[in-house]
Amino acid sequence: TYNSPFPNVPDTDYAEVEARARSQQAFEKVRQQLGKTYFPIINGKFEPTAEIIDSVNPSNPTEIIGKVGLISIEQAEQAMQAAKAAFPKWKATPVSQRAAILRRAGELMTQRRDELAAWIVLEVGKPLVEADAEVSEAIDFCNYYASEMERLDLGSSYDVLGETNRYTYQPRGIAVVISPWNFPLAIAAGMTVAALVTGNCTLLKPAEVSTVIAAKFAEILLEAGIPAGVFQYVPGKGSKAGAYLVQHPETHLIAFTGSQEVGCWIYANAAILQPKQKHLKRVIAEMGGKNGLIVDESADLDQAVAGAVHSAFGYSGQKCSACSRVIVLDAVYDKFVTRFVEATRSLNIGMAELPSTQVGPVIDDKAQAKIKEYIAIGKEEAELALEMIAPETGYFVPPTIFKNVPHTAQIAQEEIFGPVVAVIRASDFEEALEIANGTNYALTGGLYSRTPSHIQEAQERFEVGNLYINRGITGAIVSRQPFGGFKLSGVGSKAGGPDYLLQFLEPKVITENI
Ligand code: NAD
Ligand code: ALA
Repeated sequence: TYNSPFPNVPDTDYAEVEARARSQQAFEKVRQQLGKTYFPIINGKFEPTAEIIDSVNPSNPTEIIGKVGLISIEQAEQAMQAAKAAFPKWKATPVSQRAAILRRAGELMTQRRDELAAWIVLEVGKPLVEADAEVSEAIDFCNYYASEMERLDLGSSYDVLGETNRYTYQPRGIAVVISPWNFPLAIAAGMTVAALVTGNCTLLKPAEVSTVIAAKFAEILLEAGIPAGVFQYVPGKGSKAGAYLVQHPETHLIAFTGSQEVGCWIYANAAILQPKQKHLKRVIAEMGGKNGLIVDESADLDQAVAGAVHSAFGYSGQKCSACSRVIVLDAVYDKFVTRFVEATRSLNIGMAELPSTQVGPVIDDKAQAKIKEYIAIGKEEAELALEMIAPETGYFVPPTIFKNVPHTAQIAQEEIFGPVVAVIRASDFEEALEIANGTNYALTGGLYSRTPSHIQEAQERFEVGNLYINRGITGAIVSRQPFGGFKLSGVGSKAGGPDYLLQFLEPKVITENI
């Protein structure tokens, strides 16, 4: 069936002089606010904390973006009790009112999009164009889930003579949202507004290194009219406050996006029935990927090279959707590698805030060390085709390409989450598909080909949640490309898609004999 397109908000066109001027002003305004302290919001009030951490600019770690108060276990408990108290009223709030708050939040983000983009650039080192697209995605989530909930709220009728049967939805209760740092606004906002519009009281625990952006989002939600207790911003350590909230008997639902390791831990622990718990918890866990792009002998190599470079090195490869394996057929392998290496060599690496930057830093020193370890492993396992030079200051890792990588190598199997690509050789299309499917993940994948039978085969057999043909494999757009994977890439249905909100709801059927 054909659905009329959802009106996604447009990204900023930085070719326009006015747009560049607005962005520059926003950076100046944001820079004046650097170093401020952000506290959790519990039951509508900012609550001071004993523990405060610095959130720094990965391009220049001596620059403190903000100081962030981390909640204690006692404060996590207070937030949980406030959520419990607020639930009956929020559950009874008409969907039209809940949806209006989301739309208002979307409007506020639209008004502040230059500033929000600047915060993203500075706090997580994402180059401006991609940061701006992330703001669009966050706004789209607000508008899309508002409309989706209005659609679901109509319910369904299955009446027969003498009997009405009404199929409706009710909220689950208390939702704990645990978000990652790599889409610090869009993913935190998407999971949170989905939980709220469906009538759940929601606690947002963002990743430690991206808490300032989450605080900006929290302020927007309050300004949009979310009542105290219904939404609470609870930054904290994942292994302490996060784990406490996951295991809490009053938690009904956990919406998590992050690593496989943490996702599996949450899935297992949420399944344990706690004393006094009267329900089973629902877990949505969107996890990692080891995404492959197949290039066959009929591919347009200009397109394939451009798509691979963009998908592999966009945001320094720190997207769950990023391409980290290119599987190339023997007939075009050497040609592709030469051109891929040359195109990558032309990328500008630098501080994320510089307009010329195409590849910025990675998120922190731990990520930098881990990715460099993988580069060292790659040098043992395969042939180095390119290792660029990265700036010394800041958490930079040079874009790196390995060729003739065995498909079973560690760098061809494990999520590296950095600017490192394994180019694997396949003798024919059948083998390429087998290699593509030969990991634990199934998130995104792509094919560059002009052979209809290969395109058909890929559609039927490529094991991924999002398959892209003759284009890059990142940058899914709300409602156009609902996003999410299966196998060990996650459990739950696609974000920004028609089934997503169902996970936050409990269906109910009311039958009346008349
Ligand atoms: P992470 O798993 O380290 O952290 C994610 C969140 O979990 C953070 O808020 C963290 O504080 C919290 N956490 C950590 N331990 C916890 C615990 N024991 N209990 C509760 N919460 C805990 O992931 P990250 O480094 O922030 O993000 C990168 C990962 O996210 C990558 O693996 C990437 O592929 C994945 N990701 C997936 C998607 C998707 O849609 N599938 C999107 C973006 C990122
Ligand atoms: N939704 C993001 C993308 O498609 C992760 O790149």
